[in-house]
Amino acid sequence: MDNFNLYAKYYDLLYTDKDYSDEASYIDALIKKFQDLETKSILDLGCGTGNHANLLSELGYTVDGVDIAPEMIERAKQKFSENNGLNFYLGDITKFNNEKQYDAVISLFHVLSYQNSNTDVLKSMQTAYNHLKPGGLFIFDYWYGPAVLTDLPQVRTKEIGNDEILVLRNATPKMHYNENIVDVNYAIEITDKVSHRTDRVNEKHSMRYFFKPELALFLEHFSFTKCKFYEWMTFTEPGSKSWNALTIAKKDI
Ligand SMILES: C[S@@+](CC[C@H](N)C(=O)[O-])C[C@H]1O[C@@H](n2cnc3c(N)ncnc32)[C@H](O)[C@@H]1O
Repeated sequence: MDNFNLYAKYYDLLYTDKDYSDEASYIDALIKKFQDLETKSILDLGCGTGNHANLLSELGYTVDGVDIAPEMIERAKQKFSENNGLNFYLGDITKFNNEKQYDAVISLFHVLSYQNSNTDVLKSMQTAYNHLKPGGLFIFDYWYGPAVLTDLPQVRTKEIGNDEILVLRNATPKMHYNENIVDVNYAIEITDKVSHRTDRVNEKHSMRYFFKPELALFLEHFSFTKCKFYEWMTFTEPGSKSWNALTIAKKDI
C-alpha cells in the first residue's frame, strides 16, 4: 500500500474541492434516520487524513480512525492534534481489531472499492461487524457497477496548486470486465514553485465496482439487516448514472 504513502503528501490538496463538511452532515442525517439508540461513538475504516472524523467529532461524536498508510495517519494526527475526541490507529481494515465496539462504523470515499477480492471485502465487513454494538450502523460507499458500465471511465486530468506546489494528475483507466475492477493509472507531476524542481510519480489504484445483489449477499452473511442502498449524498435509490453509491446496514440485535 505504498501508493497511499506518496498520495498522502498531496491528498488534501487534490481534494480541496471535496465538500467534507456537507458529507459529514449527510452521514449525521443518515445516522439520525436509522439509529435505534443515540449514536455517540464512530469507527472510521480507511480514515485517510481524518477529515470526516474531525467534522463528525464537531457534530458531537467521538471518532476513532484507522488507515493502512502511515503518512495518512501521521497527517491526521498532526492536523487534528488539538481535538481530544479523536484517536487514529495505523492498521489494515481486513485485520484490524482494537477490541472496542462502536455505535456506528463508517468507511468513506470508496475505501471498500480498494478491497478488490471477495476475501478482502468479507474480511473488511467482518471488521465492521466485530466493532459494532448490536443495533449499530455500518455505512460505506463505493463505485457502483451499473453506472461504471453505462458511463465508462475516461482519461481525466486534474491540476491544482497552492503557494508551494503545483500538482498535475493524469488518470488513465483500464477495465478488467471479468473481475469488476478498473485500474486507474495515475501519472502525477509535482512541481515545487520555489525550486521549480518537478517530481514524477506513477500510481495504480485498482478499484472494484459493486452491484447491489452481491453486496446484499455479503451483508446477509454477517446478519446485517435492514440494508438500504442510496445514490451518494441522497436518500434515493442508485441508478445507471450513480457512479458513487452508499449502503447503510444494521447489525442484528
Ligand atoms: C480515497 S482514500 C479515502 C480516505 C478518507 N476516508 C477520506 O474520505 O478522505 C482511501 C483510503 O483507504 C485507505 N485504505 C485502503 N485500503 C485499506 C486497508 N485495507 N486498510 C486500511 N486502510 C485502507 C487508504 O490508505 C486511503 O487512505
